[in-house]
Amino acid sequence: MTEKKNKVFIATSLDGFIADKDQGIEWLNSFPEINEVDTGYEAFISKIDALVMGRTTFETVLNFGIEWPYKKPVFVLSNRLKKVPDELSGSVQLVRGTLDEILKQIHNQGHHNLYIDGGKTIQSFLKEELIDEMVITTIPILLGSGIPLFGELSKPLKFKCIETTLFFDKVVQNRFLRFEN
Ligand SMILES: NC(=O)c1ccc[n+]([C@@H]2O[C@H](COP(=O)([O-])OP(=O)(O)OC[C@H]3O[C@@H](n4cnc5c(N)ncnc54)[C@H](OP(=O)(O)O)[C@@H]3O)[C@@H](O)[C@H]2O)c1
Repeated sequence: MTEKKNKVFIATSLDGFIADKDQGIEWLNSFPEINEVDTGYEAFISKIDALVMGRTTFETVLNFGIEWPYKKPVFVLSNRLKKVPDELSGSVQLVRGTLDEILKQIHNQGHHNLYIDGGKTIQSFLKEELIDEMVITTIPILLGSGIPLFGELSKPLKFKCIETTLFFDKVVQNRFLRFEN
């Protein structure tokens, strides 16, 4: 059977937020020099089959006002959205239901290696123990409040850190694998 993996690649503030209290992400550019180096995003995305993101993250990307940035299929979790913009109908699908149902639908389309994105979305996957790997880039800024990466869990989940990279003595990136024993 094809191996199925759900992976996270995300940047957080030092206090664990992925967006500030106004949903802003400008602080991700606190250290612009980081944009000049390879932080592994392209290598990561080249190995996944599809993205699964929450509606809020989808709308944030739409509001960037740039060309659609993803070449892989994108599945957007939403109970509220009825359709996606016409120009994205070939690359974005709306999905809803339990995570089991959603994953079955995505796997049935041949996508097994998934990039899970969006705070609430990642939290709901973690709650059901469905995240296998997390690459977390920590921007050393304290925001004090905002949208958290992590939330409540059904039980503690262990991870092991298999790689750490320090960029410019400022930004640290850790790769965690789920560690079950
Ligand atoms: N720092 C970073 O690297 C990074 C990365 C990604 C995103 N962000 C930021 O994070 C913020 C978004 O995160 P977020 O926590 O607010 O939300 P999110 O996970 O992007 O979206 C949450 C929404 O997704 C839908 N959803 C989630 N689980 C669902 C399920 N099982 N079934 C159906 N729908 C489901 C719901 O939308 P409905 O109300 O439509 O049902 C829910 O309100 C944005 O500000 C974005 O810019 C930052």
